[in-house]
Amino acid sequence: MLKNKTALITGGARGIGRGIALKMAENGANIALVYRGSQEQANKTQLELTDLGVKAEIYQCDVADFDATKKLVQDVIKDFGTFEILVNNAGITRDKLLIAMKEDDFDAVINTNLKGAFNMTKHAGSHLLKKRCGRIVNISSISGMMGNIGQCNYSAAKAGLIGLTKSSAKEMALRGVTCNAIAPGFIKTDMTDALKPEIIEKILKNTPLNRFGSIEDIANMCVYLSSDLAGYITGEVIKIDGGLYI
Ligand code: NAI
Repeated sequence: MLKNKTALITGGARGIGRGIALKMAENGANIALVYRGSQEQANKTQLELTDLGVKAEIYQCDVADFDATKKLVQDVIKDFGTFEILVNNAGITRDKLLIAMKEDDFDAVINTNLKGAFNMTKHAGSHLLKKRCGRIVNISSISGMMGNIGQCNYSAAKAGLIGLTKSSAKEMALRGVTCNAIAPGFIKTDMTDALKPEIIEKILKNTPLNRFGSIEDIANMCVYLSSDLAGYITGEVIKIDGGLYI
């Protein structure tokens, strides 16, 4: 579905980002994978990707750093010639009740989850606009739609990401670039594996499909939104949450 396309994916070395990269590679896309910290993990994912027969390069970059993201996009264009897909997946949490939250907890989450997506959309977006085609997929969260106790920083960033998605969609549509968001609910990852049993029980009780989502559930939608099949979908926010927020 993505043959002859190149995807630039942030936070792609592990978790949901890694799953998206692997699914896109299975569908024929070359992958420019952005990681922040663990080069070892990034190398491992790079090998898994090249084993699927596609070109894959890794780039160390903090998406919150405006100048670094500009250079990142230049480097990807140098290595691949071009790219068609941007996935803004990099994200962090620093959960605390608002009353206990430090200024730095708020700033760090906004800077990575929201400003990071702005930085990437600005620099990668100008390349896509020149090409007059492209796909941007932002990984938001249902926390950004319904709020969540202990996550005022994260919910604000993920709600902001939905605003960024909708405005980018309107600005870029006439140049053939679509921009959509995916809002996952609880997905089975290291993050959710660490939840206390009583919290898991409560989440499942409120989830009509009565299970956590899988990384594949998110990756499949990401492939679809990045493909030619989704050419008439833009500015959309697609919840993948088992019905948790209906
Ligand atoms: P994760 O912590 O396993 O992966 C996040 C990735 O982002 C890591 O590879 C990390 O190195 C990278 N990253 C963090 N800060 C960065 C920065 N400043 N610059 C570059 N890369 C950076 O998390 P997971 O669970 O895979 O989440 C991926 C995305 O999905 C995040 O945006 C998260 O908010 C979102 N999400 C996850 C849900 C879940 O249930 N796991 C639910 C809803 C949304």
